[in-house]
Amino acid sequence: MHKSFALGPFCQLLTMRHLPLKGPLRDEQLEVIEQGGVIIRDGKIAAIGPFERIRRVAKEDGLGIKAIEKPMVALPGFIDAHTHLCFAGSRAKDYALRAEGKTYLEIAKAGGGIWDTVMKTRAAAPAELEALSVQRAQRHFLGGVTTIEVKSGYTLTIEGELKMLRAIQATQTQVKADLIPTCLPAHIVPKDFIGDEIAYIQHMLTHFFPIVQAEGLAQRADIFVEEGAFSVKAATLYMQALQQQGFDLTVHADQFSLGGSALAVRHKARSADHLEASGEAEIKALAASEVIPVALPGASIGLGCEFAPGRRLLDAGASLAIASDWNPGSAPMGDLLTVASIYGMFEKLSTAEVLAGIGFRAAAALGLSDRGRLIEGQIADIVAFPVDDYREILYQQGQLRPGGVWKRGR
Ligand code: NIG
Ligand code: FE
Repeated sequence: MHKSFALGPFCQLLTMRHLPLKGPLRDEQLEVIEQGGVIIRDGKIAAIGPFERIRRVAKEDGLGIKAIEKPMVALPGFIDAHTHLCFAGSRAKDYALRAEGKTYLEIAKAGGGIWDTVMKTRAAAPAELEALSVQRAQRHFLGGVTTIEVKSGYTLTIEGELKMLRAIQATQTQVKADLIPTCLPAHIVPKDFIGDEIAYIQHMLTHFFPIVQAEGLAQRADIFVEEGAFSVKAATLYMQALQQQGFDLTVHADQFSLGGSALAVRHKARSADHLEASGEAEIKALAASEVIPVALPGASIGLGCEFAPGRRLLDAGASLAIASDWNPGSAPMGDLLTVASIYGMFEKLSTAEVLAGIGFRAAAALGLSDRGRLIEGQIADIVAFPVDDYREILYQQGQLRPGGVWKRGR
């Protein structure tokens, strides 16, 4: 199906080779191949190294060379481990209210917030949801994002959540990026179950998740643990049951109040996301676990509140992924590179730490080990920027757009 070929020369190739999954990273640890090239075979990286050698090997093996004419820096395609890009409607009204000083939780209590998007997404036809998701996933791909997690969670009914997951599945057939679907029926308690979160969780466990499994719609499940969303008690029930059914778990944790990240640790979730409210105890527990902390700076920027303690997490020995959280409420901008660049500067993260956070550490948050590094055997997801120094990429804070994006070598 795919042909084998050589690609290069890139003036710098960042491989991310040998960098550990957890703890701080310094830029000196980055392997930068000057004038580098790759050989791609069946969508995977077969060889990587100085272009002189790559060209020789290509010649010996009779492979074609796709020449890179302009100076470009190449690195692994970006991985966005947390988005809600399948949604209908706008929440510009909420945004303006927040700018006037109303809080996210106040707006939610007054009937805006997530519930507003739920009403609009329930009303959207499948084809409309699909078209919106295709448009957003394509925009992300042009920004260099080759793997995108996408959550359900904006209908909170069995049929509606299935509609969302099927729209995500249909989107996958029309976009180049890999979409990783996640079930989020436990986003907030829907109006018809208010006051009985346990009954709602049980309803979804019994009637929704078996269909998800039967149709192969998703292998991951998420829950928003928060005042106004789900309690630790309800989340415990949800996570225990889904773990037994073989779902990978992730949690919207410690956004405004605590409890979520401890649950993620206890139930061996793949990731704990948000963490703006996490303190010393939470940081320590995450660092001692295999859970990947995921910072969502786009939500801090969209809400005007503090960032997750990325520096402290890394220094404590934890991993750190950075995701866009693209959603109509808290994170409407949705640009992964922009939010990661800004977050890196505010949190004092090295370039290596930021790139790892939207690279192999984000892959780990999704349980994926086949991407995030440009090394032999990994899939050939590559993004290249028209600059001659990799530090330009974060420096331009999202305004530098890729000159090329390859998905499995295409
Ligand atoms: O990750 N915190 C909960 N969920 C989303 C926001 C969803 C929304 O406001 O529509 C988040 O920030
Ligand atoms: Fe989210």
